[in-house]
Amino acid sequence: MKTTNIAIDGPAGAGKSSIAREISSELGFIYVDTGALYRTIALYAHRHSIESVEMLIRQLDEIEIELSFIGGTQRISLCGEDVTDDIRTPEISMGASNVSAIPEVRNFLFDLQQKIAREHNVIMDGRDIGTVVLPDADLKIFLTASADERASRRYMELKEKADCPTYEEIRADIIKRDYNDSHRAIAPLRQAEDAVLVDTTDMGFHEVCEEILSLIRDRLELDD
Ligand code: DC
Repeated sequence: MKTTNIAIDGPAGAGKSSIAREISSELGFIYVDTGALYRTIALYAHRHSIESVEMLIRQLDEIEIELSFIGGTQRISLCGEDVTDDIRTPEISMGASNVSAIPEVRNFLFDLQQKIAREHNVIMDGRDIGTVVLPDADLKIFLTASADERASRRYMELKEKADCPTYEEIRADIIKRDYNDSHRAIAPLRQAEDAVLVDTTDMGFHEVCEEILSLIRDRLELDD
């Protein structure tokens, strides 16, 4: 049976994951956060003090990544250990951006992403889902917002936590990752020609979810 695949791409901090999570639970789809895959490779490199690209490429076969979906929530394990929470640090964010520029790493993760989409109805978010991983997705969304707005949302999210970076640090980090992600030679972040652009700079969370849900319902000819 053919599955339904929705691709959501966009820069860091555009709200892809919270929006995709909400929409997938509404539709009963699985939400696949592909950034977690790159983060897990970065965590492996960090834990094994791998500093050269060649060494990481040589060790890719040692890296066993498994995704599971518990109550619709994605958990990720690295060589049998659940690392879902360990991959959410600023250091690993930057490491993920770096490893994601390596073609061998992208190939390594490509099959896994396509297999999940073949087997399940998915909302998959990332940077190259509409352009490379799921070029035949039923609907492609390119979700974006200004760098200032993305930095301020991230700051609001983190500000109660210990060691919260300053707004300026978060903004600088976002701009650097945008640059890395959209200038790498392979599968750079860009809007697919047939993707619908949704700029959320002046939109609230529920407004964005409603807009995307209505795009999906129109495309799939579902009732409200
Ligand atoms: O979405 P995120 O911030 O968790 O992603 C972490 C990094 O992984 C991001 O800087 C770019 C990379 N990435 C990618 O290159 N392709 C994807 N499909 C998803 C993420």
